[in-house]
Amino acid sequence: MACFFRRKIAAKLGRALAQSEDVFIPALSAVPVFRKQQSPDFKLSINTLRSSGVLPSSGDTQQQSEELANRLKQDSVVEDISAGNGVIHFKVNRKLLVEKMLEPFGKEEDDHTFGLNSELFKTLKKGTTLVEYSSPNIAKKFHAGHLRSTIIGNFIANLKQSLGNNVIRMNYLGDWGMQFGLLGAGFGKFGCQEKLKQNPLQHLFEVYVQVNKEAAHNEDMMQAARDFFRQLEQHESEAVSLWQQFREITVDEYQRVYKRLNVHFDIYSGESFHQHGAQEVVQQLQSRGLLKTSETGAGVVDTSTDGDMSSVCAVQRADGTTLYITRDLAAAIDRKEKYNFDEMIYVTDKGQANHFNQLFHVLRALGHSWADRCEHVPFGLVRGMSTRSGEVVFLEDVLNEARNRMLHNMSQSKTTKEMDDPEDTAEKVGISALIVQDFKGPLHSDYKFDWDRMLQAQGDTGVFLQYTHARLCSLIRRNEGVCGFIFDPSLLLEPTSIIVLQHLLRYDEVLYQSSQDLQPKHLVNFLLKLCHLVASAHRELPVKGSSLEVAQARLRLFSGAGSVLAGGMRILGITPVDKM
Ligand code: ARG
Repeated sequence: MACFFRRKIAAKLGRALAQSEDVFIPALSAVPVFRKQQSPDFKLSINTLRSSGVLPSSGDTQQQSEELANRLKQDSVVEDISAGNGVIHFKVNRKLLVEKMLEPFGKEEDDHTFGLNSELFKTLKKGTTLVEYSSPNIAKKFHAGHLRSTIIGNFIANLKQSLGNNVIRMNYLGDWGMQFGLLGAGFGKFGCQEKLKQNPLQHLFEVYVQVNKEAAHNEDMMQAARDFFRQLEQHESEAVSLWQQFREITVDEYQRVYKRLNVHFDIYSGESFHQHGAQEVVQQLQSRGLLKTSETGAGVVDTSTDGDMSSVCAVQRADGTTLYITRDLAAAIDRKEKYNFDEMIYVTDKGQANHFNQLFHVLRALGHSWADRCEHVPFGLVRGMSTRSGEVVFLEDVLNEARNRMLHNMSQSKTTKEMDDPEDTAEKVGISALIVQDFKGPLHSDYKFDWDRMLQAQGDTGVFLQYTHARLCSLIRRNEGVCGFIFDPSLLLEPTSIIVLQHLLRYDEVLYQSSQDLQPKHLVNFLLKLCHLVASAHRELPVKGSSLEVAQARLRLFSGAGSVLAGGMRILGITPVDKM
């Protein structure tokens, strides 16, 4: 694997410069491949060596790279060493490249750990990561932002878990606030238990819309809502049990729909859990002298850098009730106590960036230094997410639309008829299209939702990933008798094969990059590129009609590529299909 070569090159450098080989590992990276063009395999960055103090930071980088390259000798692993501007390039022995890269795939069981045990991850701290994502609001719309949070959070949780962390997946529901006064009071007037059981999310949403309309012009309704919310806050059993029913039924329904996305949560928390804690936070702020009163009578914390109240965070309304952020403060403290996480990650739209800055600021002011290990992962807006029947209100609407559109596209193809469960395949492929569209760019960017584009079979789509995976599976299936445990590496020296393997050299680095900035684009683009390279290899290196030895070698290449593809797709939150 890539580590083998990185180590060999690092050892060579270590000997030449009388340094520990470890210092060279961070400066070495696999060279990204370009279509068909033969390139070296690894490059060493002189700048990285300069900034880590291995090389003097004065002097000409070109000269430094030439001097260093001249001191290195080729051997049976590293066949060619050449200096470029600020870099040194290394080319490894072709046969060894083939052998080492395809070694992990000869086992009986499919290997899904390729790249995950790389030494690049050894320096990363492993521990407990709490990832909070999805977090919809009961009775309200599940909008595009919630969908993004769901799939991005799931990706981050999968990645962290793959790299050996203990991951806690948490959903923090919007299950508290005046909307439950409205909903509770409105349910008495517009609600129906029968409908609630049949179609819970739909019915709660309808009641919520109706009661909001009514309350806009009917003061009695508004009063009833306030009364109901007060009853809730005072834990009156009738109100609480209705609220509980709404919550439970919503969680059950969400669990069912998340399953379609292959998403799950270890904990369904929510704002309601932290009413009491929120009051305690206010008291703590007060006793530490951090609570100030604003002109309007609200309780605020000074978050300005100069201590001049030029920016403040409101934690208490003038009437003494707490706010969204107060509950978040209490929730964060409670999570640290309960789960003792090493890091916590919140995934929401970038509109909440200021909210999280303030949250972390106030936590630090309260003496919680672990706030430095809390992170907000912001994402941009999605425009125009709608279905044929109109605006998206529920997560299920999007999933159904993706499945139906995909099913329609698939009905055009003859292999669909041979499938055991075309609906299930269409669902998985449709979801991968949603995910790839979303993950291709930087998370921070806004983008326009486009069903037609994302569902194209050619081009950089989730459909293309699935299609490539299914093709590889079918190739292996058709040649079951031919696949052997042994293969001859010297039969895979064609440029099209080498370029696939050179690309695989980068896999651990790509995962590393994603683990550092939590951006899925590195992995998505790596997999898309892999699919393009595999398509060329598939065209140029036929299995059918080749001699047994050649067929075996080629099948090993394709099954290796298929395994890496499947493993990467799973981290993204995509379930690979075997047929389509
Ligand atoms: N329920 C919120 C919303 O829909 C998202 C919650 C984000 N998480 C948090 N801890 N504040 O906007």
